[in-house]
Amino acid sequence: ISLKPYNSFGIDVKAHFFAEIFSEDDLKELFQRDLVNSQKLFIIGGGSNVLFTQDYNGLVIKISIKGIKSEIIEDKVSVTAGAGEVWNDFVNYCVAHHFAGVENLSLIPGTVGASPIQNIGAYGVELKDVFDSCTAFEIKTGTIKTFTYADCHFGYRESIFKGELKGQYIITSVTFRLSSSAKINTSYGAIETELQARGIENPNIADVSAAVSHIRVSKLPDPSTIGNAGSFFKNPVIEKYEFADIVAKHPDVVHYSTPDDKIKLAAGWLIEQCGWKGKIVGNTGTWKNQALVLVNHGGATGTEVYQFSEQIIDSVKSTFGVTLEREVNIL
Ligand code: EPU
Repeated sequence: ISLKPYNSFGIDVKAHFFAEIFSEDDLKELFQRDLVNSQKLFIIGGGSNVLFTQDYNGLVIKISIKGIKSEIIEDKVSVTAGAGEVWNDFVNYCVAHHFAGVENLSLIPGTVGASPIQNIGAYGVELKDVFDSCTAFEIKTGTIKTFTYADCHFGYRESIFKGELKGQYIITSVTFRLSSSAKINTSYGAIETELQARGIENPNIADVSAAVSHIRVSKLPDPSTIGNAGSFFKNPVIEKYEFADIVAKHPDVVHYSTPDDKIKLAAGWLIEQCGWKGKIVGNTGTWKNQALVLVNHGGATGTEVYQFSEQIIDSVKSTFGVTLEREVNIL
């Protein structure tokens, strides 16, 4: 089976075996088969954070577990969504029901089940800010386990599911802690600017969601027409003394301080400074409005995109002395 419809980069590779899962029971049943237990596995949600560089010689499991339910206790709302719900459908459900907390995460591609794995984030909010718990299928034992916030070890685009427990669990549902009394977060300058442009002084969560969606559409390529996986690299976090060297040579370097007293640089800015923004190289390149996003202009192979990303890493390293790390999973 071709994986082209299952990855947002639109890379045309094949999977040896493929299974689509609609419930926790489907998972239990699947793993009772010897054939399944002898295969290497790749779990796919929206396929929006992966670059396939070759055919997958194993079993790809597409998670399509659906369903959203909510419980309101005073001004707190607990919402549980199936891992296979499309992330933005879940956000729209929350906005429509006036459940605040995820509106800044509007239009992020992918599924609910993938959201804790790399602690997705945008426009001043991270998944961890609204995460309550998740359930996951343990492959080794075939049982369902609950992970609390503390269990997940969230960091910037990191969690235990990417680290220590990688490959051991399949997330089946996520429970979010939201609020029915909105605390609007417009700390991210671009949202404020967009709301002002719309003449909105006291925004509600629907306004914030609309503003964020507008910003994303204007900056990021639409994967249904131009293959991509969002930010290809992480924003590098460096020590203050390393930053001192950089800012001495590049006084306008875009940077933010982190809660643990380090400095986060904007990878998109670094890449743009090296002259890569909007460059087209073969069938790949960086996006014209956001250099952090690598794109498939049509017919690109995963290897081609990967090699292009190597060129970018080398170039940023020699100009700034900073090593970019990929955010996208390479297979
Ligand atoms: N910038 C440039 N040139 C570029 C791109 C960005 O100079 O080509 C500058 C911008 O002007 C701005 C700064 O870099 O001063 C940051 O840019 P932006 O606000 O677009 O955000 P980002 O840091 O590039 C991160 C996330 C995005 C998220 C946005 C908004 C990472 C790796 N990326 O990007 O997440 O949507 O912030 O909050 O943290 C993703 O992870 O796939 C993703 C899209």
